[in-house]
Amino acid sequence: MGRLDGKVAIVTGAGGGIGRAMARALAREGARVTAGDIDEEGLAGTAHDAEGEIRTQRCDVSKAADVQRLVADTVAAFGALTTMCNNAGISIPARVTELSEEDWDRTIDVNLKGVFLGCKYAIPEMLAAGGGSIVNTGSVNSLVAEPFLSAYCASKGGVLMLSKEIALDFAREGIRANCICPGWVDTPINWPHAEMMGGLGEVLRTLPDWQPIGRQGYPDEIANVAVFLASDESSFMTGSAVVVDGGMTAK
Ligand SMILES: NC(=O)c1ccc[n+]([C@@H]2O[C@H](COP(=O)([O-])OP(=O)(O)OC[C@H]3O[C@@H](n4cnc5c(N)ncnc54)[C@H](O)[C@@H]3O)[C@@H](O)[C@H]2O)c1
Repeated sequence: MGRLDGKVAIVTGAGGGIGRAMARALAREGARVTAGDIDEEGLAGTAHDAEGEIRTQRCDVSKAADVQRLVADTVAAFGALTTMCNNAGISIPARVTELSEEDWDRTIDVNLKGVFLGCKYAIPEMLAAGGGSIVNTGSVNSLVAEPFLSAYCASKGGVLMLSKEIALDFAREGIRANCICPGWVDTPINWPHAEMMGGLGEVLRTLPDWQPIGRQGYPDEIANVAVFLASDESSFMTGSAVVVDGGMTAK
């Protein structure tokens, strides 16, 4: 018996990193999963040798038509949708004075509007299914800021607050919404910021100074939490910021 038997899930940004680990973990626990991403090669890697059922679909989460199709095709393939993991994200590091308007718009479009669209199209299907769980990927930057991440911090603060608001709107209708806030996990999204901070080697060397557990997090350690939030084991949790950061924000 899997912990997610009978669930139908979508994971966005599932072509690599944390989203890939989430899609594979959800499928391993018995959910039927659609993995969405703009990176089709990455998606193929996610589905390759997966335990359980993963279908893949190209989807740009900043485009309403793509997200609408992602949801509709998942329901057509697997039946009623129970689980929506809005995980796709980008980071374009810069202070506001150096950030272009285009890069601001792109960051907000993918990181925040992408979550809005995912919820907008998934929730009616989840209501039809009798309820479900939304798992949004925020960040420690949903809670605390870091230098040179102006648009990213703004977008991730928004993801947490949108998650809380959706939790309130749909609490009585069987839909829960929670926001995972990961600390440093070594995936490509961090590399441009690491470059500005003296290079990836330097960031990893100093990491024990600011991530108290003394090492990077691994995508599976975030995915494990997504499985819990997607499952009925977390049935009394909604509107939560679920911090998974090796103690970074405990200081
Ligand atoms: N890695 C970390 O340290 C960390 C920390 C906190 C939060 N996060 C968040 O975790 C999530 C996953 O990031 P990751 O660490 O796996 O990084 P990643 O770069 O490995 O993965 C991000 C994925 O999102 C996809 N993507 C980008 N734009 C997209 C779009 N418009 N539509 C669909 N997919 C798109 C990429 O192709 C990629 O597969 C992001 O929301 C990120 O902000 C990561």
